[in-house]
Amino acid sequence: MGASSLKPKRGSTQEEDPPNSTTALLSCTTDSSSTPPKSTTTTVPFVSLFLAACLALSVTGAFAFLFFSSSPSHSQLNQKSEHVAEFSRPLTKLSHPVVLLISSDGFRFGYQFKTDTPNIDRLIKDGTEADEGLIPVFPSITFPNHYSIVTGLYPAYHGIINNYFFDPDINDTFTRTTGGSDPKWWFGEPLWETVVNHGFNASAYFWPGSEASKGKWTCQEYFCKHFSESVPFKERVDTVLEYFDLPSDEIPAFMSLYFQDPDSLGHDVGPDDLEITEAVGTIDSMIGRLIQGLEKRGVFEDVHIILVGDHGMAGICERKIIFLDDLAIPKDWAESDWALLGIRPPVGYPLPEIVDNMTKGLEEVENGKHMKVYLKEDLPQRMHYAGTNRIPPIIGLLDEGFIVTQSRPAGEDSCGGAHGYDNKYFSMRSIFIGHGPRFPQGKKVHAFENVEIYNLVTSILNIKGAPNNGTEGFPNYVLLPRVAVHDDRRIRVGSENVFDTCQVPRGEGVCKADGT
Ligand SMILES: *[C@@H]1O[C@H](CO)[C@@H](O)[C@H](O)[C@H]1NC(C)=O
Ligand SMILES: *[C@@H]1O[C@H](CO)[C@@H](O)[C@H](O)[C@H]1NC(C)=O
Ligand SMILES: *[C@@H]1O[C@H](CO)[C@@H](O)[C@H](O)[C@H]1NC(C)=O
Ligand SMILES: *[C@@H]1O[C@H](CO)[C@@H](O)[C@H](O)[C@H]1NC(C)=O
Ligand SMILES: [Zn+2]
Repeated sequence: MGASSLKPKRGSTQEEDPPNSTTALLSCTTDSSSTPPKSTTTTVPFVSLFLAACLALSVTGAFAFLFFSSSPSHSQLNQKSEHVAEFSRPLTKLSHPVVLLISSDGFRFGYQFKTDTPNIDRLIKDGTEADEGLIPVFPSITFPNHYSIVTGLYPAYHGIINNYFFDPDINDTFTRTTGGSDPKWWFGEPLWETVVNHGFNASAYFWPGSEASKGKWTCQEYFCKHFSESVPFKERVDTVLEYFDLPSDEIPAFMSLYFQDPDSLGHDVGPDDLEITEAVGTIDSMIGRLIQGLEKRGVFEDVHIILVGDHGMAGICERKIIFLDDLAIPKDWAESDWALLGIRPPVGYPLPEIVDNMTKGLEEVENGKHMKVYLKEDLPQRMHYAGTNRIPPIIGLLDEGFIVTQSRPAGEDSCGGAHGYDNKYFSMRSIFIGHGPRFPQGKKVHAFENVEIYNLVTSILNIKGAPNNGTEGFPNYVLLPRVAVHDDRRIRVGSENVFDTCQVPRGEGVCKADGT
């Protein structure tokens, strides 16, 4: 969104222009973020809880033999692990599992408390929620995060390292408008590709990357829409609902649905404006329209709905700015600015010396203590933001709510919102809600990174996914064990080995208990 003041133009979803073009001077070039939940401190309880869940699963696994031979009571199993107390609920109408992945852009964790959200609340109550939010990958920007959600890869490995970037290896620049459909930018294996490679249909009502052909996936009109933010939200919902009217084996096993709100508003007015509250209400009503449509078709309880956002939003104001002019950084060195600084000096410049000079310069300038400059290799390892030449060699991390840009604007003071900050900030978190046969009712899970979602979806669909950065075993922590029907007996399908070994090719029946 090239806007000339802190307030980007209404209706644009994000920054598109290179930061050094004048019109983009104060555009929200990168997405920004906010506060810190203790990412290191969260890790420890998460890991221990995770281990506890795994332990519980293996205990349950050990009990499986007993379960079949001597049928211990359910309560006995429950005592062993509260997380595997139930089985997944069988499908009643659909002939195969379906995942509908919905993104509400910039839906910061906590927005759901701003107003009445009866439909989202219903999904939470009857489903599974990350009750401390969904952690974006770094940088907390729209394209990198949407593509991490569908590939399970960090941006350094899926290639989309920002909304706008230069690739020195091919001497070409990615922009959201020119790069959307060219496969050369999009690495990894997105869910739609995985799903069609397994013989199912897949559909995408907008999602970054979905317009690029990959494997057996090509973006064909009926199941794949070319991005246009002017398509009314209702029309998007109604089109997705129509896919459920297809003959059952043609219903896409994976569907995506994307809303650009409340992100676009959030940039304009900041996270705490009343307009955001209204936008949240609108998203909730779209979820309501979807639920109603699915109920009318008798498939609501069969469909796995996963509702997420890509990142949160932090409030910004003009007085919290750092200017590159003050640091003697030439205009054309900055590949991204705003909530995330990316500097690519011409080949041959001494990078460590530039970092040193910038660091010294920051000691002198206003707000300078709120940005820290790194060689990308020296960034905290948890950010995984180094492993490709697409990432500029010098990165500036900003404190929550601060921004960096080239030069002083002429305009008046104003405020808005930004994201793109360190993903440790709590304000950068979004939501995760799962509802459907494999999601336990009323379960709360710890905050987790969105690279885990790919494995959740392939696990629900019972297909083998591509290698990715999700944690092995994570689906077993969140999902209910599958139930397979075999020889008229109901069999609990053991967890890990089935996930790894049981792929059901289309029309070839179900997994057996031993995962074959
Ligand atoms: C890279 O592309 C630009 C134009 O897009 C061109 O002027 C330049 O010569 C190219 N550089 C190399 C090394 O090919
Ligand atoms: C959807 O699946 C059906 C059944 O496998 C197949 O005949 C049809 O070609 C698929 N549609 C698309 C658009 O791929
Ligand atoms: C770093 O700063 C010193 C002192 O101002 C200057 O001489 C030098 O050229 C600078 N280095 C770079 C790479 O800009
Ligand atoms: C992420 O996954 C890719 C593909 O499997 C792999 O090459 C890379 O090393 C992984 N990175 C991390 C940090 O796990
Ligand atoms: Zn976004």
